[in-house]
Amino acid sequence: MASASLLNSSPVLEKSEWVKGGQSIRLPSTAAVRCQPATASSGLTIRASYADELVKTAKTVASPGRGILAMDESNATCGKRLASIGLENTEANRQAYRTLLVSAPGLGQYISGAILFEETLYQSTVDGKKMVDVLVEQKIVPGIKVDKGLVPLAGSNNESWCQGLDGLASRSAAYYQQGARFAKWRTVVSIPNGPSALAVKEAAWGLARYAAISQDNGLVPIVEPEILLDGDHGIDRTFEVARKVWAEVFFYLAENNVMFEGILLKPSMVTPGAECKEKATPEQVAAYTLKLLRTRIPPSVPGIMFLSGGQSEVEATLNLNAMNQQPNPWHVSFSYARALQNTCLKTWGGRPQNVKAAQDTLLVRAKANSLAQLGKYTGEGESEEAKKGMFVKGYVY
Ligand code: 13P
Repeated sequence: MASASLLNSSPVLEKSEWVKGGQSIRLPSTAAVRCQPATASSGLTIRASYADELVKTAKTVASPGRGILAMDESNATCGKRLASIGLENTEANRQAYRTLLVSAPGLGQYISGAILFEETLYQSTVDGKKMVDVLVEQKIVPGIKVDKGLVPLAGSNNESWCQGLDGLASRSAAYYQQGARFAKWRTVVSIPNGPSALAVKEAAWGLARYAAISQDNGLVPIVEPEILLDGDHGIDRTFEVARKVWAEVFFYLAENNVMFEGILLKPSMVTPGAECKEKATPEQVAAYTLKLLRTRIPPSVPGIMFLSGGQSEVEATLNLNAMNQQPNPWHVSFSYARALQNTCLKTWGGRPQNVKAAQDTLLVRAKANSLAQLGKYTGEGESEEAKKGMFVKGYVY
């Protein structure tokens, strides 16, 4: 059921409307909204599309000093996180943890958007408030993971492709009704396994179809071709693959008439493979990554929201900070899951008496990344826990 209070107080958007005879009518629940221009005989003026709203949403998410809290782990992945602190993977435990995250006091100062798993979008907090309503009260835009995960790509070099296009339009319309205003689709590219031309093309095409469908339904698509950290290759090889992947992604985005002003990107930073002996400094990561963005990403794209991909919390923050030491055409920010949640989850440990301490830890990370978005993070006072890397081979969501 749609969350009525949310719909009345969205931090971003006015309602989509049909306008008939000067009178506003609320859009029916799962209506098709890529409307045709009104014909003279219809007497009905229909808004052409969600274009203005998409731009507004994207700009809100890409607002200065803020980034995205990715809390969209699938039930299976969330189960692994809970197991790491000795908790069972029950709906009640997932609800307790996500309640802790969304209700951290003042989170909206640093976090502009939160990506949710479907269960959370329709879930209430432990106190019985809709999760989406709590986010909106915090001035955080709710988002939704819409992909259905990775499966083997037949005919490739042991690579994968991302499922979820079937039924995506109707699911997206329903997610919009429930309060989501942006979407996420994560596909991956593996460097050690190729990447084959087939896998790159499939990843780019899937992202482009998803992006077009999301925009048709009022959701700003986060375009995420994650280039996995797995491998012992150097940073130059990552750069080369990333250039190829992003060229192809933008080719198909254009072919699918995706509006660049109404998307957000979620790239991997350009780093050496996790098993490479030569490490890169934050300045090197920033130089390579910004070079990639400059050569591949149009300035009309409002926000570049990096994933953390297994870097330590501190590493991810330092790298982001290094990228913001100069003005960039886009808002260069974060959309971290592990690099925002790791210490928070451990601090909580499933104990009610630790909720406040865990929320404080989340706020420490959110504030650090907010400063990094502004290029003002110093790295002082970070805990040893926050410096621990979190790389896991073949990580899934
Ligand atoms: P990480 O920051 O843990 O790599 O998460 C990325 C992601 O896609 C979550 O939405």
